[in-house]
Amino acid sequence: MSAYLILGLATLQGAHAWGVLGHATVAYVAQNYLTSATATWARGVLGASSTNTSYLSSIASWADDYRETTAGKFSAPFHFIDANDNPPTSCNVNYARDCGTAGCSISALANYTQRVADGRLSAANTAEALKFLVHFVGDITQPLHDEAFEVGGNDIDVTFQGFSDNLHADWDTYMPEVLAGSATLANAQAWANTLTTDINSGSYKSVAASWIAGDDISDVVTTATRWAADANAFVCTVVMPNGAAALSSASDLYPTYYNSAIGTIELQIAKGGYRLGNWLNMVYEQNIAAKRGIELEAREEPVLDGREFLPPAQPLSRAELARRAVGYGCNHAH
Ligand SMILES: *[C@@H]1O[C@H](CO)[C@@H](O)[C@H](O)[C@H]1NC(C)=O
Ligand SMILES: *[C@@H]1O[C@H](CO)[C@@H](O)[C@H](O)[C@H]1NC(C)=O
Ligand SMILES: [Zn+2]
Repeated sequence: MSAYLILGLATLQGAHAWGVLGHATVAYVAQNYLTSATATWARGVLGASSTNTSYLSSIASWADDYRETTAGKFSAPFHFIDANDNPPTSCNVNYARDCGTAGCSISALANYTQRVADGRLSAANTAEALKFLVHFVGDITQPLHDEAFEVGGNDIDVTFQGFSDNLHADWDTYMPEVLAGSATLANAQAWANTLTTDINSGSYKSVAASWIAGDDISDVVTTATRWAADANAFVCTVVMPNGAAALSSASDLYPTYYNSAIGTIELQIAKGGYRLGNWLNMVYEQNIAAKRGIELEAREEPVLDGREFLPPAQPLSRAELARRAVGYGCNHAH
C-alpha cells in the first residue's frame, strides 16, 4: 500500500476521540474491574452473551460512528468540552463558561448516567445510554478533548513519522498505535492487561485510588468537571508546554515529542478504564440493584432529556463559533 493510501485510511477512522484502539483499551480495562453482577447487567443491556469477552470494548467506538449519521449529529458536541483557557500559560475548565448550549462531554455524562440508571427507558434507549457512557468516560481523559484552543488541536498542523497530520489525531490515534499496535481488539486487550497489572501491582498502584476519589454518580457534573480539569492540565504541561508553534515547526514529533507524551497517554487510558469500571459498578449497585423488586411505574417512557444539567446559556464563544463553522466535524484539517 502506498503511504498516501495508508494515511488516508488511518485518517478516516482517526481524529475523533481516542481512536478505536484507545476506546477499546479503556473499555477492556473497565471490564477487568466490573463486579460479576455489574458485568451480567451490562451484558444484558447490550444484548451480549455470557461468554462474550468484548461486551464493552466492541461497542466503545459506536458513538464516533453514530455522530457521523444524520440521526446522531446532535451528539457531536458531547465528545468534548471546549475549555476557553490560554495554554500553555494557563489551563483550566469552567463548566458554566465552557459547556456550550448544545451540550458537552460533562452534560452528556450526567444525562446518560441518569438515563442508564433510571430503569424505565426502553431497552434500546438504555443500551444507547450505556454505549455513550463507555465512550465519553474515555474521551474526557484525552487532554485535547478538554481544550478549545485551535479546535482541540485539530488545527495544529504537525508532522508525525513522516506524515502531515494534526496534533489532535496524533493524540487520539497515531501515538497510541505506535505503542500498542494497530486498532484490533487483540491489541487493545493486550494493552489493557498491561495497564491493569500496572494498576493492581505496578507503577499506578499507589495512585489509582486518587483517580476515583470523590466520584459520585449523584453529582455527575462535579465529578466529570474534575475529570476534565485533570486532563486539561496536561495541555499546559505535556501537550504543548512550549506552545503550538514549537510543534508545528518541529521537523517530526517522533521520537522526541512522542517520548515526552506517551507516558501521559498510557496514564490517561488507564485512568479512563479504572474510572469507567468504578462508575458502572456504582450505577449498578446504587441504582439498578437498589431498585430491584421495586415496582417501577412505567406506563410511559419518561423523557429524561437532561436539560437540567446544562449550564445557563452564554453568548456563543469563539470556540463554539469555530466548531459550528466546521459542523462539529473533526477531519477538516487534512
Ligand atoms: C459482544 O457483545 C457486543 C455487544 O456488547 C457485540 O457488539 C459484539 O458483536 C459481541 N461479540 C461477539 C464476538 O459476539
Ligand atoms: C440526553 O439524551 C437524549 C437521548 O439521546 C438526548 O436527546 C438529549 O439531547 C440528551 N441531553 C443532554 C443534555 O445531553
Ligand atoms: Zn468521541
